[in-house]
Amino acid sequence: MKHELEPFYIEPLSWKNLRSALNLLNRVFPRESQGGERPFVFFTATLCSVGRLLLKWKGYPFVSYWVARDSENGAVVGTVGLYTKADDDEAYWGGWMCVDPKARGKSLGMALSYRAMVEATKRGDRKYARLYTSTDPNEAAAQIMYDQMGLEVYREEDEPGTGYKRLYRQIEL
Ligand SMILES: CC(C)(COP(=O)(O)OP(=O)(O)OC[C@H]1O[C@@H](n2cnc3c(N)ncnc32)[C@H](O)[C@@H]1OP(=O)(O)O)[C@@H](O)C(=O)NCCC(=O)NCCS
Repeated sequence: MKHELEPFYIEPLSWKNLRSALNLLNRVFPRESQGGERPFVFFTATLCSVGRLLLKWKGYPFVSYWVARDSENGAVVGTVGLYTKADDDEAYWGGWMCVDPKARGKSLGMALSYRAMVEATKRGDRKYARLYTSTDPNEAAAQIMYDQMGLEVYREEDEPGTGYKRLYRQIEL
């Protein structure tokens, strides 16, 4: 919800903010945006009933995204997602967390993370919040933030074709 005194506000993804959100994701995650996990497909699909059915069929029964916007000019400066996987009934998964480089260091990453965590806790039907991240230097700040939040690494594996490790993190809800 918009609040005049806050520099940023967080709102659900919508047709209105979709294009700006995708532009931000393409800038922050150039490598992942070209691969099989393209945010375009997932973000757009959540906004219509046919898309949500498609996600369910692909094994993601629940998917939701939020964007952070600059209170002064309305620019999209952050994103976060929360989803469930058909093959994991223990957890909510976080995804596509990012903050525009120009807006970093102002606790927005933390605010977006908590927005997703609050939703997971409110829904109340899973034991863990999980996410995966990587040792890509582009994601180094995220490791410090996740450590600070208490999201512990519980599994590591090689990320095919990148030379980086994929780190799986979780916290009990
Ligand atoms: C990770 C990211 C979302 C953090 O956004 P942010 O708004 O700058 O983060 P915050 O200001 O909320 O910082 C939260 C904590 O993270 C840590 N942190 C964030 N940026 C840091 C940096 N550059 N160096 C060291 N610690 C950092 C700090 O512990 C900070 O807590 P503090 O303010 O009490 O010191 C942002 O850097 C980003 O978009 N990175 C690229 C995309 C990415 O890695 N996404 C996650 C993929 S899984």
